[in-house]
Amino acid sequence: MKLVDKVCIVTGAGRGLGQGIALKLAKEGAKVVVADITEEATEDTVRMIKEAGGEATGVAVNIADYDQVQAMFAKVLEVYGDYDAIVNNAGINRDRMIHKMSVEEWQVVIDVDLTGTFYCVQEAVKYLREKGSGSIVNIASGSWLGNLGQANYAAAKAGVVGLTKTAARELAIKGVTCNAICPGFIKTDMTTSMPEAAWDRMMAKIPMGYAGEPEDVGNLVAFLVSDEARYITAEVINVGGGMIV
Ligand code: NAI
Repeated sequence: MKLVDKVCIVTGAGRGLGQGIALKLAKEGAKVVVADITEEATEDTVRMIKEAGGEATGVAVNIADYDQVQAMFAKVLEVYGDYDAIVNNAGINRDRMIHKMSVEEWQVVIDVDLTGTFYCVQEAVKYLREKGSGSIVNIASGSWLGNLGQANYAAAKAGVVGLTKTAARELAIKGVTCNAICPGFIKTDMTTSMPEAAWDRMMAKIPMGYAGEPEDVGNLVAFLVSDEARYITAEVINVGGGMIV
């Protein structure tokens, strides 16, 4: 187990990718803070971790609300007294072609995916700089390179990549790493809710021919927050079965 004695926060960990990441970190011995939009949304993941013999605490947070983000970190310090890593996974999409996209659809995705990630990075940075160690992993997306119907999402995720590389440069001297992961097409509510024809078109674009599982991303996160990855920072790593090149 690579992560014994580490405390790791995972946002959006109530389901999907975040849940897969949280379960993997717990399996490697981490104490996991399962953060999601409501306390209820965190319950399944917390129960699954505890049933498997791990340690987890659920915290309700809307990452797009700065006060709630501050309150989340305060709660983590109250419960565990410290933390080592944050995985900024919470995110949403509101897909529409640019000529039909409303300003609200643009703004809400920027608010959650980019500004929300910034709030969490900023609060973590303040603490981890002083601590002199730690890791930040931001879940971006292969869509940051541009994707039909995802101007809001692609812009937000490209912003997350810029934020990641800047944080990495600012934090390197403090012994803190910051990396981004770009999942390709992973089986979660975000993707399985799409029409069958769109799903089939996606499959055709994946050289490996199948959608990834949340654990495929969790395995990389577990490595990036482990001491074994101490010299890896400012990287953008694809987990996409060859889809993102
Ligand atoms: P999902 O929709 O299944 O789960 C997202 C989770 O984030 C939910 O539990 C939701 O309650 C939570 N959440 C949403 N807004 C929040 C907020 N304001 N504050 C706190 N929590 C919030 O999505 P999925 O597929 O698990 O995606 C997770 C991350 O991975 C997202 O950042 C997404 O953009 C990214 N991603 C997913 C891909 C995929 O193929 N599923 C591909 C590339 C990136």
